[in-house]
Amino acid sequence: MPNTVESKNNGCKGTLRGKRIILGVTGGIAAYKSAYLASALVQHGADVHVVMTEHATNLIGKATFWSLTKNPVITGLFEQPTKPDITHVSLPESADLLLIAPATADIIGKMANGIADDMLSTMALAVRCPVIIAPAMNMNMYTNPIVVANVDRLRQYEYIIIEPETGMLACGAEGMGRLADPDVIVRRVEEVLIGGRRDYSGFNIMVTAGPTQEPIDPVRFITNRSSGKMGYAIADIAASRGANVTLISGPTDLPAPEGVEIVKVTTVHEMHDAVITRLENVNMVVSAAAPADFTPAQVRDQKVKKSEKWTLELDKADDILEEVGQRKGNMILVGFAAETENIEKYAKGKLSKKNLDLIVANDVSPGSDVFGSDTNQVTLYSRNGDKVEWPRMSKREVAGAILDYVKNHFMEELS
Ligand SMILES: Cc1cc2nc3c(=O)[nH]c(=O)nc-3n(C[C@H](O)[C@H](O)[C@H](O)COP(=O)(O)O)c2cc1C
Repeated sequence: MPNTVESKNNGCKGTLRGKRIILGVTGGIAAYKSAYLASALVQHGADVHVVMTEHATNLIGKATFWSLTKNPVITGLFEQPTKPDITHVSLPESADLLLIAPATADIIGKMANGIADDMLSTMALAVRCPVIIAPAMNMNMYTNPIVVANVDRLRQYEYIIIEPETGMLACGAEGMGRLADPDVIVRRVEEVLIGGRRDYSGFNIMVTAGPTQEPIDPVRFITNRSSGKMGYAIADIAASRGANVTLISGPTDLPAPEGVEIVKVTTVHEMHDAVITRLENVNMVVSAAAPADFTPAQVRDQKVKKSEKWTLELDKADDILEEVGQRKGNMILVGFAAETENIEKYAKGKLSKKNLDLIVANDVSPGSDVFGSDTNQVTLYSRNGDKVEWPRMSKREVAGAILDYVKNHFMEELS
């Protein structure tokens, strides 16, 4: 970020024209960066309304914001509104986005618990638009389990969290907690409001998702706990970023993502055939499905009647990903490793055995709350030796972050 409040995004002025953004500024030392943010948003054409907490006014003056935004700056809940459309309910109703940057531990705690004791926290409950929160605080505060739980809670309610950066903090300590770069925040605002990025335009991506069902008789089958949410999120985000996406889906209740070609399959054998016959011209395969590892050796024609015992014999199923790995060519291959133990060892083993570029590992042991959940905590292992551990995020955020990683590390091979 430059030292002045002049935006350096002059090249993309106007992208936010017609968008009304409430910029919440709270009492963190990074509040001075909100001036740059307000200026950048205005230069992108947004109608920016700054709502400051009382504590924030100790760190930066209201006059800075009204002179940058040309709108009144609101602080007190009981201040007389200067215009009828900027009360604690009318402004949130008309807003396209609420962005809180910097967000203190305090506002995060209030929002996670439905507390509305000042103008900003009241508006946060009243808005219907997307909410982006950019936390910034001392590292010990940010890693405090109470703050971690509050941030998680907000994620579960689909609030978008822009993770703070690691580096030198205002308190002199080194660690995670520094407000994300304001230019990164502006780009995220653009993505949310105008679906900004088309960085996968022209790429053909195949995504597999969900479980498979392996019949053992006409009424019973063997399956697993995969919900398909992770794969559907990847398909959805990749399509919104311009990719031509084919989603090979096992049985799920999820709605088909918009703009995605969906191929529904039931068994691992069907999934195998659907994948292998569609590989031509595919640039990238993301294998997020959980196809069965074993299939019943025999499928009974008639329903098996209740008895004392039924011993099932299972055969090894087709290994779809391994087969794709053998035909890899120039494709980028991303796999998932859901493990209950020895996660790193098994993930790295799968990475090399299946000829993958990237493997996304997660812990699915009892209590890990992955299957069916909207959030996931994953670690990436790349063929270039990288190990990247991410905090718990919504599955949509994980999807976006995986696509970012591929773009930053393997895009040249894709193009
Ligand atoms: C100089 C100063 C800097 C502060 N910086 C931060 C910060 O970066 N992040 C944070 O969560 N709290 C910070 N605090 C503490 C908050 O100001 C405090 O928790 C306050 O209650 C937040 O209120 P608000 O969320 O209503 O603005 C700071 C306090 C002071 C005095």
